[in-house]
Amino acid sequence: MTASAAALEPPLALLAELTHRCPLQCPYCSNPRALVTRAAELDIATWQRVLTEAAKLGVLQVHFSGGEPTARRDLLDLVRHAAGLGLYTNLITSGVQLDRARLAALADAGLDHIQLSFQDVDDAPGDAIAAYDGAQAKKRAVAALVVAQGLPLTANLVVHRRNLGRLAAMIDMAAGLGAARIEVAHAQYYGWALANRAALLPTRAQLEDADRVVDAARATLKGKVVIDYVTPDYYARRPKACMSGWGRRFINITPEGKALPCHAAETIPGIAFPFVTRESLSTIWQSSAAFARFRGTAWMPEPCRSCDQREVDWGGCRCQALALTGDATRTDPVCTLAPDHTLIEAALADPAREELTFRRFERV
Ligand code: SF4
Ligand code: FES
Repeated sequence: MTASAAALEPPLALLAELTHRCPLQCPYCSNPRALVTRAAELDIATWQRVLTEAAKLGVLQVHFSGGEPTARRDLLDLVRHAAGLGLYTNLITSGVQLDRARLAALADAGLDHIQLSFQDVDDAPGDAIAAYDGAQAKKRAVAALVVAQGLPLTANLVVHRRNLGRLAAMIDMAAGLGAARIEVAHAQYYGWALANRAALLPTRAQLEDADRVVDAARATLKGKVVIDYVTPDYYARRPKACMSGWGRRFINITPEGKALPCHAAETIPGIAFPFVTRESLSTIWQSSAAFARFRGTAWMPEPCRSCDQREVDWGGCRCQALALTGDATRTDPVCTLAPDHTLIEAALADPAREELTFRRFERV
């Protein structure tokens, strides 16, 4: 039975993008190129209603993200509200605006987990790619405070052409800081990262080295630290099951209240994404045309339609298909069976570039 024919399950998780404000300017940011300004952000009452609706709908986890979610002064109240509803609460943060008192207050409000990003192991390149002086030192200090507070810590290590040579040291650093989990994530090429692809995409040799480094670290840290590894799908034979399939497990809410099946969905033309200010979350999940658009397998073209992987990877990523082919209904070009796979081969053959476009409001 296809997912579209099966009974619709509730979403597992809600990603609350509280704001696009952020003191960092990472050139691989997953936010859209067109950033939402502070004036357009949802107010706290609306966020609280959305969280209440999420819990009723069956959502189990809420991930507070951004931008930088700590830029919202009402973050504490949102965490308290979510925790009071029984939701598992995770804060995805750069950490640079956190201190001991705020961490203690967040823990007291019921925060379950913190995911802290690191751009590098060395200060100079880490600060440079974040365009924030002192970021690395601040993050190390905040990691120690998180652990001292007794909050479970995941270190999120974003890797790319410029820092992959230091991956082993980055993992050592994260383990030394007390992370219980380390996520090594290659940059994913949408939005800002796609604009910077020629400067960030690793070589095949770098990728093979990184695979070896992760294997070795997993062996060394077995039983102490869990290492998750997100590979760059440009080198894969088959695409990732993006978001575990469109409209199957996740809801993203943008700072202005647009409900999306994934962080990049707004790039797809011709879909009117619903707003939480106008409809309830359950109506959006169960009845919106936007969430139904690529749910299941009925929308698929060949070769996906008759492929035995169609309920494994769900045809890959719609936003990547759009970004690379101009058509979100095409098979994800990452797949070697896709008619557009030559686009990936061409990207891998592109000459490397040095200059970066940093994530800034005024660039849009
Ligand atoms: Fe997945 Fe489609 Fe490729 Fe099959 S043809 S592996 S369903 S992307
Ligand atoms: Fe939108 Fe993959 S990021 S479907």
